[in-house]
Amino acid sequence: MNGGEEIWDRVYKSDNTFFGEERSNFAKFCFNYMITNKHVKKILDLGAGHGRDSIFFATNGFEVEALDYSVVAVEILTNIADKKRLPIKSTVFDIKKKPLPFPDSHFDAVYSHMLFNMRFSLGELHFILSEIRRVLKPNGWNFFSVRNRNDRFYGKGQEVEKGIYNINGFQIRFFTEKEIQSLAAPEGFEILQIKEEYEEPVTLYLVASKKH
Ligand SMILES: C[S@@+](CC[C@H](N)C(=O)[O-])C[C@H]1O[C@@H](n2cnc3c(N)ncnc32)[C@H](O)[C@@H]1O
Repeated sequence: MNGGEEIWDRVYKSDNTFFGEERSNFAKFCFNYMITNKHVKKILDLGAGHGRDSIFFATNGFEVEALDYSVVAVEILTNIADKKRLPIKSTVFDIKKKPLPFPDSHFDAVYSHMLFNMRFSLGELHFILSEIRRVLKPNGWNFFSVRNRNDRFYGKGQEVEKGIYNINGFQIRFFTEKEIQSLAAPEGFEILQIKEEYEEPVTLYLVASKKH
């Protein structure tokens, strides 16, 4: 371990449902896009945590692969999926270290909620997006949410690396819309929508984009 796994393992060990048991509003936002295309079947949930949104997607008929580098989170989600017999495969994986463990053009959609604002350098974010593009089918969706500069914690905490702040032990990047564009466009994504949303206690941009 040398990333931020320890803090997340601790969080999930002390609270198995840290983010709540209900799906996020972002998951519903993405679901509304996906049901416009009846061929959408396979989804990849990156940084899935204990899986509130993976569970929602699987309950609504999608096959889900979930990755997270927290062993504790993956165990929690695996147990729930087994118990409820849901089509979710949950795996321990650090997305900044290696290419995603899937073949090219494998998923209809990739989803990540509050992952890209974790401690990743811009180089790592570009690598992650290029990998997302590789595993997506043509015209596949890339949905992601990130914390933004209207967040009440922006400007608080100490800068630990350029653009990344330590907020109560969590290392966070706060995005502007322009930064989202300049991350996604060169990696071959067309931004379809950026919507601001407050999810207690953070302020997010919800992003719907498409591989082109
Ligand atoms: C803010 S939490 C969001 C969890 C989940 N998406 C949700 O909304 O319920 C971010 C998650 O990303 C995971 N994570 C952070 N960096 C990661 C990395 N490099 N590789 C894989 N997972 C990572 C953390 O373990 C944590 O579960």
